Amino acid sequence: MHYLVRESVVDFCHHLDMSPAPLLAFLGVTFLLPGAQTLRCQWGTIETVRNVSELPLEWTTSQTDCEADEGCRETLVLIENGPQVTLVLTKGCTEEKDQEAKITEHRAGPGLSIISYTRVCRHEDFCNNLPTTTPLWAPPSATVPGTLQCPLCFSRGDCPENPPKQICPAGYTHCYNGVLKFRGGGIASNLRVQGCMPQPGCNLLNGTQVIGPMDVSENCSPKSGVEVLDCKRESSETVRNVSTFPVEWTAGWQTCEIGEGCQDTVLLIVNGAQVEVVITKGCTEAKDQEPRVTWHRKGPGLSVVSYTRVCRHRDFCNDLSTTEAFWTPPSSADAKVPGTLHCPLCLSRGDCPESPPQQICPAGYTHCYNGVVRLRGGGIISNLRVQGCMPQPGCNLLNGTQVIGPMDVSESCSPQSDTLTCHLGVMWRVRRDLSQEPVDWEASALQECNPGEVCQETLLLADPAPGQKSLLVGSKGCSSPERGNAPTVSIHSSFPAIIVASYARFCSSNLCNSASDSSVLLTSLSRPDAPVLGYLQCPVCVQFGESCSQDSSVITCPANTTHCYKGDIETRGGGFFATFGIQGCMPASSRSLLKKVQKIGVFSVEEHRSTRPRSGAPAPYLAWAVGLGSCVALWCGGFHLPAKSIFP
Ligand SMILES: *[C@@H]1O[C@H](CO)[C@@H](O)[C@H](O)[C@H]1NC(C)=O
Ligand SMILES: *[C@@H]1O[C@H](CO)[C@@H](O)[C@H](O)[C@H]1NC(C)=O
Ligand SMILES: *[C@@H]1O[C@H](CO)[C@@H](O)[C@H](O)[C@H]1NC(C)=O
Repeated sequence: MHYLVRESVVDFCHHLDMSPAPLLAFLGVTFLLPGAQTLRCQWGTIETVRNVSELPLEWTTSQTDCEADEGCRETLVLIENGPQVTLVLTKGCTEEKDQEAKITEHRAGPGLSIISYTRVCRHEDFCNNLPTTTPLWAPPSATVPGTLQCPLCFSRGDCPENPPKQICPAGYTHCYNGVLKFRGGGIASNLRVQGCMPQPGCNLLNGTQVIGPMDVSENCSPKSGVEVLDCKRESSETVRNVSTFPVEWTAGWQTCEIGEGCQDTVLLIVNGAQVEVVITKGCTEAKDQEPRVTWHRKGPGLSVVSYTRVCRHRDFCNDLSTTEAFWTPPSSADAKVPGTLHCPLCLSRGDCPESPPQQICPAGYTHCYNGVVRLRGGGIISNLRVQGCMPQPGCNLLNGTQVIGPMDVSESCSPQSDTLTCHLGVMWRVRRDLSQEPVDWEASALQECNPGEVCQETLLLADPAPGQKSLLVGSKGCSSPERGNAPTVSIHSSFPAIIVASYARFCSSNLCNSASDSSVLLTSLSRPDAPVLGYLQCPVCVQFGESCSQDSSVITCPANTTHCYKGDIETRGGGFFATFGIQGCMPASSRSLLKKVQKIGVFSVEEHRSTRPRSGAPAPYLAWAVGLGSCVALWCGGFHLPAKSIFP
């Protein structure tokens, strides 16, 4: 097993204005047919607009483990526009076959020009090692200036209303005004371009449609309304210390349905030195809304502020990437006058500690708040426990707010009166035939739920092959409610593949999570008792709590299987925080057991079988080293959103 560690973790500079990269902590497992070699490659992306005078540029890279048979790829595109140059760089693994380093001049200058470098190699680890723009770039030779002037713009956002002008080379007759789209290889960006061209038309790319792993296209007409938008996509929540602000983030992306716009929502709940940061971005049916900062409750003491926006004027217009735009921590100069009241201090998605730390409330504050703020929508499901200082009694932290962007928000401060009691317990078994013979599933304990919670019961079964050991884990207890109360059996992967199946039920009466054995799941499973065997042989294993070791026993696989699987299912929630190792046989049609499912009943699950970043996930940025020694190692105070759980 290889943990994907970024060994040259990014050094980068404030003045380069690059967002810190999300750390994609993929836990990679290499597998497939024995004897196959796997490569390690340089990995990451850069997109930036620079002055031509800054070239040549250099960078350092992250790295990744590829899957069997994959090679290392690298693609660099330089687009020159008079005094400016846009650089797009992507490196990583690829299934493409080897290709010698190739430099292509898609459009020759002067004026606007596009040149690219692409390469795919397998001869050694990290062979995609281009470190600089030097092979592609030569200082532009002097051009005879003409008489035409064109606007000069190169922007990943909007062009300014009155962009600066440039004098075009002699013989140039037209001004270009369009958008270049790059999609693929961890790059998703739209570059607005205005510059000099020797002929009319929307043909800066000169027919180019693909550069390395990227699809490229251009468009010179304003958006027509029937086109679909691409939006940034993200949903995350973290509790952060005020000292780590401003917070910065990067996001993945998605393509919307016709008519949908892009929404941007950031909610901050500030409680003393702690701040809950909730970010949700994505496509929305809501109508356009200018950026709006709303103080739902002003401080000092507990305060709630949100930024919301809905836009349609360009792809990725929901690109807010820092809290700096709308909130700065109160400076010590205007520090509140302390009063005499002490209140507990808690901001937590779990329980507050039995004796939370105390805070001194601002002068004039008379009450301690103790409640749960519920957030639902835009990919956020959260019950946030809050204890802090308020100027008046009551359960009214939100000051009447019910909706923030795509989220419904509500609060509850009632003690445990209207709460449920549920069966509580976890269970796991590793033995033969768990998919044929029911086992008892009695929970020995009871649990008093928190307000708003319901009872749940969840079973997850993994059975790699007939006659082999299988694994069953179960959980009963309280849970935040889920959509749909009906018991659900899901077959995530079926015979002749490794069988992975689950049962989940959420219900809202006392002790309703009362299934007494695993037959609630087994009645829906089927598999031949004596399957026809094929020729493939694979190691077979299930492990509770760890990955499978190298020396699993080898079996002959059922007919119609074509490759061996090795992976881990990481399961969190419902009393579990465990990894289950799985090995077995798979048919050609199937590489994954969970098919991107992220939630099974009360469990959050994640399958780790591959080191490849999923498409749409932001790849880590590469580090710049512009010249030598001009860069200081910094994280720029940013933070790293997990780039998972956001792609359908
Ligand atoms: C590019 O050069 C112009 C002047 O030629 C300067 O004002 C600008 O700050 C430079 N931009 C960068 C990113 O260095
Ligand atoms: C456009 O591409 C063709 C080959 O695909 C090339 O011969 C030609 O020079 C290119 N045009 C410009 C202006 O670069
Ligand atoms: C509560 O909301 C109203 C408007 O909805 C606002 O005027 C008022 O200032 C808010 N109260 C606090 C304490 O922030």
